[in-house]
Amino acid sequence: MSDRPGLERPHPVQTGKDVAVDKGGDTTIQPQTRPDPIADPGLPPHQPRPTDVSERAEKRAERQVATLFVFSMICAVGFCVAYFTLEIGDHPTVWLGFGASNVILGISLGFALLSIGLGAIQWSRKLMSDVEIVEHRHPIASSDEVRTETVTALSQGISDSGIGRRPLVRNTLIGALGMLGLPVIVALRDLGPLPGTKLEHTVWKAGMRVVNDIAGTPITPDDLQIGQLVNAEPAVFFENKPDGEPKFEGTELLQAKAKAAVILVRMRPQDIHPAKGRENWGINGILCYSKICTHVGCPISLWEQQTHHLLCPCHQSTFDLANNGKVIFGPAARPLPQLPLMVDSEGYIVARSDFHEPVGPSFWERG
Ligand code: FES
Repeated sequence: MSDRPGLERPHPVQTGKDVAVDKGGDTTIQPQTRPDPIADPGLPPHQPRPTDVSERAEKRAERQVATLFVFSMICAVGFCVAYFTLEIGDHPTVWLGFGASNVILGISLGFALLSIGLGAIQWSRKLMSDVEIVEHRHPIASSDEVRTETVTALSQGISDSGIGRRPLVRNTLIGALGMLGLPVIVALRDLGPLPGTKLEHTVWKAGMRVVNDIAGTPITPDDLQIGQLVNAEPAVFFENKPDGEPKFEGTELLQAKAKAAVILVRMRPQDIHPAKGRENWGINGILCYSKICTHVGCPISLWEQQTHHLLCPCHQSTFDLANNGKVIFGPAARPLPQLPLMVDSEGYIVARSDFHEPVGPSFWERG
């Protein structure tokens, strides 16, 4: 048995057998019990902490907690400084094999969070009230009485934490938690600015050649047989600026390619049913469509020659290329955008214009 109130434990132990009990004429069956053979060792006598008996130790602990919270604030500011001053890109300065920006951002945010955690632990271990509590098992649904006790205990806990009496700890904690919002706000900056009309256009424009996507060679109508499909791109991806540098490279090239990639297919002209206004978008049965699925943007080129269907390997959306790219199966909600074609003065296939609608998956400003 414990020498402190509230620490006793109930001791009857069930033997696994049932016994009949006579209660005023009614006989009921109850589990047989016997005393617990292992004595309750109880708890050692309570030892006060140094901060409970020494005002000096208490003040020192308070300063430790405040220092940790202040350090957290410094780390949060460091995160913001690193975000704006260190290069984030293809060639960041490398530290220990990692980009300097990532290292500093990770360390500063990590230490900001860690310091708040350590400060809270120190606060509760050294400064909050040091009372041992035993909670016995009880039914899961709390009674009204227990709920009232809980609210009372919570209020008592708040009171015991001394948050009202320790303005230094309270204010530095509020400051540290408030500063943590800064990295979040700064990181949200990467979501903007909104894309505007960028998603509605690609690099295609009138007169731009449609070229083979591997070699960049221009294509003539005679290069395609009936039933054939060719993966293609705009010629500008293979062109250089006057200084010899490619017009598109790196991330810019990948982003432009993700919108401008196309497929050229050739069918028998009599199999094609162009929509009104699209009668001159093809060349003798050669049509050009976006290669980007309108469901969630997978590149498509699984072509069924006989049916003129194009199948997306991701979720099986199927588009009828003889019928304006109409969706005939699967989750895609819109037809495949078509690129109008013509032939230039040298006999090569070129675009008549950019796409007349945004390519790829839906987005909220699509209209
Ligand atoms: Fe093509 Fe889902 S991305 S069907």
